[in-house]
Amino acid sequence: MLEEKIEKIKEDALAEIAAVESLAELNDLRIKFLGRKSEFTNILKSLKDLTEQERKIVGQIANATKIEVESVLAAKEKELKEKSFDFAAEKIDVTMPAKKLQRGHLHPLTKIQNELEDIFTSMGFEIADGPEVETEFYNFDALNIPKNHPARDKWDTFWLKNNKQQTTDDLPTGQAGKQQERILLRTHTSPVQIRFMQTHTPPFRIIAPGKCFRNEATDATHEHSFYQFEALMVGDDVNVGNFKFIAQEFFSKFFKKEINVRLRPSYFPFTEPSFEFDISCTVCGGEGCPSCKGGGWLEVGGAGMVNQAVFEAAGYPRGKYQGFAWGFGLERLLMMRNKINDIRLFHSGDKRFTDQF
Ligand code: PHE
Repeated sequence: MLEEKIEKIKEDALAEIAAVESLAELNDLRIKFLGRKSEFTNILKSLKDLTEQERKIVGQIANATKIEVESVLAAKEKELKEKSFDFAAEKIDVTMPAKKLQRGHLHPLTKIQNELEDIFTSMGFEIADGPEVETEFYNFDALNIPKNHPARDKWDTFWLKNNKQQTTDDLPTGQAGKQQERILLRTHTSPVQIRFMQTHTPPFRIIAPGKCFRNEATDATHEHSFYQFEALMVGDDVNVGNFKFIAQEFFSKFFKKEINVRLRPSYFPFTEPSFEFDISCTVCGGEGCPSCKGGGWLEVGGAGMVNQAVFEAAGYPRGKYQGFAWGFGLERLLMMRNKINDIRLFHSGDKRFTDQF
């Protein structure tokens, strides 16, 4: 009888499994009792020759037996594995240094921007913002740089196609009212001056850090995309002395040492008078060293007293207010402090560079 045969197989299997002492032996038993050529498998194959009723009964018994033998095999396997586990060999040295996790961090330019914002807000400045895609009006005209002004050449500009594809030049004469503003990537952060003044009344002091773009060839000190940092302070009697004081305070805090500021006459259409400003060498303090090429000063940026034409373009009455503005490159400042010799590193995406900050 098949039932008895199955019962016998089960008994033998359970007895032999219980006696086994190694995983290899256990595996042999698995093949012997349940393998493809085992008696048990043969019985399963022969089920098809039984009557339907018999097949039902024997089939059930066979199934239950298979499940039982398998579970006993599994239990034995677990037991043998645990027994053979070599604790001495698997010892964990908890004093071993762990693998270093790579963690993300802010870009050096973001860090320096945060740092400058902290210093300026501690001096009572607000942070202002403007769009990177600007109109010709904010980037040039309102800053007293009308079309065809020779000073425009200073700012090599990425002009953008207006989505209506219509520029002032394309329009037939007599349609001035329908003129479409020309748009561009802002070449400096100065347009934020106008945007802020249009919606605020002096006195105020603001900074406007942000990305700028210039259509020029890159080299170790020039990038087509870079960050500028604009400051603007306007009131009834803001003067050059205020500018010099605030600049000195700021740079001393930034470089964590006493810094002097020097002004040299310059020209910007939006300031009058205009200056280039230098700071005393951050390495030698002004004595002269290789860092400042012996001169004792480092060039930082442009500044000046806001031109009354700019106030007027922003909607203030001419002559009512006075203010100073300045702008400089963030990268350049970081290059000075951290002795970085190529501005292109900032946008290189090279982790060997950014990981140093
Ligand atoms: N916007 C000027 C530039 O990019 C810098 C500047 C700002 C000069 C404010 C004077 C006053 O060259």
